[in-house]
Amino acid sequence: MTDSLSADMLARLAQGKTFQDLANKVVFITGAGSGIGLAMARAFAACEARLALLDMDASGLDRAVASLRAEFPAAQVHACVAGVTDEAAVNEAFSAVHAAFGRIDVLLNNAGISMNVPTLSLTGEHWRKAMDVNVNGVFYCAQAAGRYMSEQGSGVILNMSSMYGLVAAPERAAYCTSKAAVAMLTKVLAIEWGKLGIRVNAIAPGYVKTALVDDLVKAGRMDLDALTKRTPIGRMGEPHEIATLALFLASEHASFINGHAVVADGGWSAYSYI
Ligand SMILES: NC(=O)c1ccc[n+]([C@@H]2O[C@H](COP(=O)([O-])OP(=O)(O)OC[C@H]3O[C@@H](n4cnc5c(N)ncnc54)[C@H](O)[C@@H]3O)[C@@H](O)[C@H]2O)c1
Repeated sequence: MTDSLSADMLARLAQGKTFQDLANKVVFITGAGSGIGLAMARAFAACEARLALLDMDASGLDRAVASLRAEFPAAQVHACVAGVTDEAAVNEAFSAVHAAFGRIDVLLNNAGISMNVPTLSLTGEHWRKAMDVNVNGVFYCAQAAGRYMSEQGSGVILNMSSMYGLVAAPERAAYCTSKAAVAMLTKVLAIEWGKLGIRVNAIAPGYVKTALVDDLVKAGRMDLDALTKRTPIGRMGEPHEIATLALFLASEHASFINGHAVVADGGWSAYSYI
């Protein structure tokens, strides 16, 4: 799935005027091999941040790194193949990135999976898988980043929740519960680590055009037409529209925003009609 971050917007970001403070920052992105994670990698690369990219899909990550190097030849990119559910591998990846770059400034805790299954058919295995990736993985990465950030006395963590962590949808019991847990974990970390110089917020996207949504459409579990009609701005989101929110929240422009889940959903969750 391609990202539509426009050349024009990229050029303006690359001038470094808007998010100048992100230049040189070490930005650790999980699930960076595709979708929103890759869009965030491009946006932060355009701001001249140094990138640490983690994904469990080695070939997807290879392609992502090659495309970033082609688009941003000066970018410093460190790649880690690991699953976020493997606590030891997560700690090793953070340690390797810290050894390579000397610090970790921003964590984009993005890796996650959908779990769109009618509740009466939802198995324990489905439930545990959603919790393992979407909650445990987010916790392991936040804790690993928090250890380095607390030593530095600064850092920003953005956890990927979803509008479905804040409003409910049928047939998504495990997904909604896992994303609500991410929103609450975000608040706890924000109030506990604020005094250490670490800001923690969550991003809560609505429907965004990525492989995650594509797969649900292909499996007949999502009706794109109905979904577009139901969205007040009449379309799905683009990965770059989440990436630019991440830039803002990671930057000094958001220096007093702490402990929130910021929704980007085209108005979906504001709209209570069918
Ligand atoms: N696309 C949407 O509509 C949407 C909406 C709300 C929230 N989100 C959230 O945004 C995040 C990114 O979603 P996306 O649409 O870009 O998905 P995606 O499937 O396009 O990309 C997810 C990436 O994460 C990686 N990944 C999955 N499990 C992993 C694991 N255990 N360890 C390491 N990497 C892993 C995948 O290999 C993939 O590269 C997820 O947390 C998702 O729940 C997406």
